[in-house]
Amino acid sequence: MTFQDTYRHPFLESGHKQLFIGGEWVDAISGETFACIDPSRGTASIQVSRGGAADIDAAVAAARTAFKGEWSKFKAFDRQALMLKLADAIDARFEDLARLETIDMGAPIARTSMFRRWIQQTFRYYAAQAVADTGDVFNNSVPGNFMSYSHREPLGVVGAIIPWNGPLITQLWSICPVLASGCTLVLKPAEEAPLSTLMLAGIMHDAGLPAGVINVVPGPGATAGAALAAHTGVDKVNFTGSTATGRRIIEASATNMKRVALELGGKSPDIVFADADLDVAATGAAMACFNNTGQVCFAGTRLFVERSIYNDFVERVAAVGSKLKVGLPLDGESQLGPLASQAQLDRVQHYFEVARNEGARLVTGGERLGGNLADGFFVAPTVYADVDMGMAIAREEIFGPVLSAIPFDTEEEAIELANATEYGLGGGVWSRDVGRVHRVAHGIRTGMVWTNCYGVTDPGVTFAGTKHSGYGVKGGPHHLNEFTISKTVWLNLA
Ligand code: NAI
Ligand code: MG
Repeated sequence: MTFQDTYRHPFLESGHKQLFIGGEWVDAISGETFACIDPSRGTASIQVSRGGAADIDAAVAAARTAFKGEWSKFKAFDRQALMLKLADAIDARFEDLARLETIDMGAPIARTSMFRRWIQQTFRYYAAQAVADTGDVFNNSVPGNFMSYSHREPLGVVGAIIPWNGPLITQLWSICPVLASGCTLVLKPAEEAPLSTLMLAGIMHDAGLPAGVINVVPGPGATAGAALAAHTGVDKVNFTGSTATGRRIIEASATNMKRVALELGGKSPDIVFADADLDVAATGAAMACFNNTGQVCFAGTRLFVERSIYNDFVERVAAVGSKLKVGLPLDGESQLGPLASQAQLDRVQHYFEVARNEGARLVTGGERLGGNLADGFFVAPTVYADVDMGMAIAREEIFGPVLSAIPFDTEEEAIELANATEYGLGGGVWSRDVGRVHRVAHGIRTGMVWTNCYGVTDPGVTFAGTKHSGYGVKGGPHHLNEFTISKTVWLNLA
């Protein structure tokens, strides 16, 4: 089998990929396309229609028509039944979806294959919630005979703007609550990795998703994304991406006071005490940073280590990193793939230089990989020691497999260092002292803390950030409320 054959995929066989609007595949109004780059080879895999502001207009109109039309007559049970049907249809095509995601953004097939359970769980969790909603009946003391109750109604048209670091699962945080609540959706994937989103839309369409309920418009952030964020026909925007763009989304939302949920950047702390199980913690701390080649919003990129074990522990983490198999993403043995784009490669290499200039001590990595990986955007898992919080590599989100290790002396100092950041998404604590684990978990100002583990998530459990990492919860029992309005009704029973 040749290299080319390995990278063939049924979704990539024909022509270019179109936008999905109102249940139909259409070209961009401009007629333009852009190239999807396979990051493991640096070459184009296929052309995709380049959506712009006019296409966003068309998609929002289709979503509004669907919201008011047949879809609005779906009862909760009907939406639940549809979701379960879609989940089955997606499962039947799952292997092709995982391969496509791997080709498009470079995550190894071993990683994308693990999304099977996550996708099924997410669809089924939200399908269960579709029928679980209850309203409130309020006690009131108004003289006379008044009754007051509230129930929840779907919010309307939702816009989702997602990044390229895991679209196959990131999009579900919008698709599933939209379907469960009775909203409709315009989804703008990132130009770097739009393919699994387009393929998923096609699968759902074939399985009976009504026209216009989910629309997909790939295109540039500055045009398509900005148009969606500012659109007065959109009631809510779900954004996942950088803090800088998140700020623009908030500004754009002012046009019509649309609701906004933001999952932004991070520089999450991972704190290791000398009393931890150090073998488990070394692997855990390495993968907290290196997973998905460091392109994870909650990656534990600042490693704080108690000084008595600092040198030894940093060596152990570096040893885990240097043994990881970085390789072609469709190779089943690969544990890490390339960075997702040339821009990410440039960014990570820039930080290698910053680290050198700042005087951090390179323990492992710090370079682009060559050999059979030379055409792709591959870098080695990297650990820097003797870092302090004054250095840019300890403050700025790099979004690559780059770990900064910093020593600490006391529990109080560890908490203080962990919080010396504008971000507040995740955090980790490794210790066998149960009291300390809770104290530190409560002391860290983030939306999530993992203790003696890192990065565990489940659709049934709230996922949230604070500070410059954004706001709005995902997952768990409260997420669906963000897709509804609470309607209060007063009755004069006199
Ligand atoms: P980005 O935040 O600019 O892009 C994310 C999404 O927003 C993409 O779909 C993009 O097209 C869209 N977008 C860009 N500008 C927009 C605008 N003005 N209005 C509306 N939508 C817009 O992030 P980018 O440029 O891909 O990556 C830069 C850095 O951002 C990364 O190196 C990383 O540090 C961070 N990032 C963090 C992510 C996270 O999950 N925390 C995900 C992606 C990027
Ligand atoms: Mg790509």
